[in-house]
Amino acid sequence: MAKVILYGAPAPGLIEVPAAAVQTSPLILGSSDLAGLSDGGADAATVLAPPGTLERDYVIAQTLRAVKPGGALTVLAPKDKGGSRLRKALEAFGCTVSEDARRHHRFCHAARPKAPVGLEAAIAAGGPRIVEGLDLWSQPGVFSWDRVDPGSARLLELIPNLAGRGADLGCGIGVLAGPILASKAVTGLVCMDLDRRAVACAQHNLNDPRATVLWADARSPDPALEGLDFVVMNPPFHDGGAEDKALGVAFIRRASEMLRRGGVCWIVANRHLPYEMTLKAAFAEVAVKADAGGYKIFEARK
Ligand SMILES: C[S@@+](CC[C@H](N)C(=O)[O-])C[C@H]1O[C@@H](n2cnc3c(N)ncnc32)[C@H](O)[C@@H]1O
Repeated sequence: MAKVILYGAPAPGLIEVPAAAVQTSPLILGSSDLAGLSDGGADAATVLAPPGTLERDYVIAQTLRAVKPGGALTVLAPKDKGGSRLRKALEAFGCTVSEDARRHHRFCHAARPKAPVGLEAAIAAGGPRIVEGLDLWSQPGVFSWDRVDPGSARLLELIPNLAGRGADLGCGIGVLAGPILASKAVTGLVCMDLDRRAVACAQHNLNDPRATVLWADARSPDPALEGLDFVVMNPPFHDGGAEDKALGVAFIRRASEMLRRGGVCWIVANRHLPYEMTLKAAFAEVAVKADAGGYKIFEARK
């Protein structure tokens, strides 16, 4: 049977993909890592290209590496999220491209050239590395990959030394978890993120026996995570590129379920996001600890 690579989840009906295609998006739990696929081992690929240039070129280069010469490659993206730049991106790798458009997407079709150019450079530029200045492992495409998010920085200024067992929901590369583990009174910290790349980086960055880093959906119930003393989070507010407050609401409810009575949740959120009602419904006490620079920081006690 032909081996087909799929990257991402195109909307139903947008493009036909064999049911047995190997999913490689790092945002889909259980997917395979593109970087782990053998050279030329796949017959064809369909890529829903991510919007960032370094991330997109990394994904296309890894896909070209993994598809055999002559194998069919289709790369698509919404027109206003990088679709109109796809053709140039593929041509830069030596592909001869035909293009069509439908349902606000551009579709670029190419056969994998015998000798594509620039794969190594794109793979190096978009791959995991220690980022200078941040001094942490990171990778283009993960949240705020080359700088500390200002909301997370502000949260770190306000969080007191925590104690006991806790969780970091949507931990990213471990920007919050690292400083939290500086408190010797923290006995365990479960960090989870939906992005496999972030999880791999966090595993490098939090080299601490008290930390457990999980590739997981923080919204899913986990009986092992109950009776915690604290939860910290800078919850996601985008789903597939569109702002979605439901994600943050789900994170807040899960945090409350995970905590013991009296346990505390520290949360930073863009100030326009309407989380106050959810916090008040899920926690006994809610205090706004800061409201400046576009961010609100809450301390919520169960
Ligand atoms: C705003 S970022 C915060 C990252 C990190 N805590 C920081 O402060 O830099 C939110 C994180 O949540 C992750 N995320 C999104 N949806 C998720 C889900 N359903 N379960 C777990 N993590 C998720 C994203 O991949 C992202 O790393």
